[in-house]
Amino acid sequence: MTTDAMSGNEPTRRGFLDLALGLLGAISAIGVVYPVGMYLWPRVDKKEGDETRSMKLPVGDVPIGEAKFVRFLNKPAVIMRPNEQEIYALSAVCTHLGCVVKWNDAGKDLFCPCHGGKFDVKGNVLGGPPPKPLPSFTAKIENEYIVVAEA
Ligand code: FES
Repeated sequence: MTTDAMSGNEPTRRGFLDLALGLLGAISAIGVVYPVGMYLWPRVDKKEGDETRSMKLPVGDVPIGEAKFVRFLNKPAVIMRPNEQEIYALSAVCTHLGCVVKWNDAGKDLFCPCHGGKFDVKGNVLGGPPPKPLPSFTAKIENEYIVVAEA
């Protein structure tokens, strides 16, 4: 007569603990690997068939001669309407060291409060240390809405 205990197939406390520790280790490894993977290969917010990411706001939100700061693509951006015909949308992150630029209502341009950088409404550098223009987005008015999209 043979029993499981005699054949060595009986579950043991040590076997159970090894299995439990193995599962705990695997769960812990997933907890480390997943965030690292998400950091190295970030999620792209584009939907299939949607080649550009865009935002829309009522045209009245940006009166002529003024600017409005918004968040676009998860970063500060500015939309400006210097006159009836023109509209511009730029990244509001200074190309020098990354401060957020401000609207200069008197000069109808942008300035950086950190080191005195200056930009025109098209993003061109007018002065100060910024090494390159502010990145621009496309901006247009459609059916009483301002539509901003990736350039
Ligand atoms: S961060 Fe804008 S000028 Fe330095």
